[in-house]
This record gives sequence, C-alpha cells and structure tokens, in this order.
Amino acid sequence: MTDGTSGRFITLEGGEGAGKSTQIARLRTWLEGRGKTVVATREPGGSSGAEMIRKLLVEGPAERWDGVTEALLHFAARRDHLRTTVWPALKLGAWVISDRFADSTRAYQGYGHGLDHATIEQLYDVAVGDFRPDLTLILDLPIDVGLARAAARRGAETRYENLPIEFHQRVKAGFLEIAKREPGRCVVIDAGQDIDTLAATIARTVGDRLGV
Ligand code: TMP
Repeated sequence: MTDGTSGRFITLEGGEGAGKSTQIARLRTWLEGRGKTVVATREPGGSSGAEMIRKLLVEGPAERWDGVTEALLHFAARRDHLRTTVWPALKLGAWVISDRFADSTRAYQGYGHGLDHATIEQLYDVAVGDFRPDLTLILDLPIDVGLARAAARRGAETRYENLPIEFHQRVKAGFLEIAKREPGRCVVIDAGQDIDTLAATIARTVGDRLGV
C-alpha cells in the first residue's frame, strides 16, 4: 500500500466515546478536498456479513462470550469486512478510513479480557495475513469523559460499556502500550481537544505521515 498510486488504509482507535466518528467525517472531507476518493467504514461491521456479527458482539449481557469466542467473532467479522469492503476499495485506489480495526481486539480482548497476545496474533495471521494499516491514530481520552459521552448516545449497544471501570482502564493502557511498541504505525492523539483543534491535529498527522 505504499507505492503512491494505490490507496491507503487508516485506522482510528480508542476507548468508548473518544469522538472517532465525528473525526472520521472531518478527515474524510479533508482528504476529499485533496482529491482522494475516501471510503469510511467501521468495525465490528462495515460489510453486510460483519454487521450481522456486530449485533452478536455489541448487544446482550457482558458475560455472553468469553475472550476467545469474542476474539474469534471479531476476526470473523474482520475478514468479511476486509474481503468485501476494504481490500476491493484499496485496489481501486481509495483511501479507506476504518473506525476501529485489530488494535481494538488487542486492547479489548487482550489487555481488557486477558486473552494472551500470542493467540490474538495467531488469529490475526489466519484472518488478515500480512496486511497492516498504513497509519493508526489512537484517540486518547480520560475514561470517565469517554464513558459519559458514550452513555449519552447509545441505544441497545451497551454490552461493552457495562463492563467495569477497571476493564476500561486496562483497554486505555493497552492502546498506549500498542502505540509504544509500533511507533512507525501508531500515533497517540489527545482527544480532549475541541472538535476543530482535534480535526486539525489529525489532518496534520495524516499529511505528515502519509504525504498528502
Ligand atoms: P464502537 O462503539 O466503536 O462502534 O465499537 C463497538 C464495541 O466493540 C466497542 O465497545 C469496542 C468493541 N470492540 C472489541 O472489543 N474488539 C474489537 O476487535 C472491535 C473492533 C471492537
């Protein structure tokens, strides 16, 4: 994905209520203003099969799945999303922005639920192979602020929010660890900035990192 003629794959990650969807809409407009064709998508979901799996994951009681089952469901949804939506769009030269990707599995099922990292990477190899995002933006926000924002807008999709605060603390720490391990791919961004400042920070980061 780096020869300058094909598309780019950008992922936005972070805990609950970090403002990813608003920022994806802003980034899309910014990229389109620079002549890019943009596909905005999300996980779990982003294809009709993966949206069906999403319902199983985000609704119902918190103890519905154990960590392994949950990771399997996320990777099943991810593979369908990649095959149906992401890879074809990249092939046509689009810039694909995904609201969450595999770092969410590492942070939520790995750091949050304690599934071991080697298992997650094995599942990654099976479902995704060598493919990686060109850039991952991790929107970092204090947990209480994020959960309050998420609670204000959420309908039936409460399964993850209902997990205890310690779970969300592990998820936040996990995202920061991932960023530290892969500084070439990941950038941590303070999501506590106001919407316009945050959008400008994100645009600058994408511009610098991917040469837009
Ligand atoms: P959303 O609220 O950003 O749409 O994401 C739905 C929930 O799914 C969110 O609480 C995070 C969770 N999730 C995982 O636990 N693992 C994953 O791999 C992904 C993509 C999402």
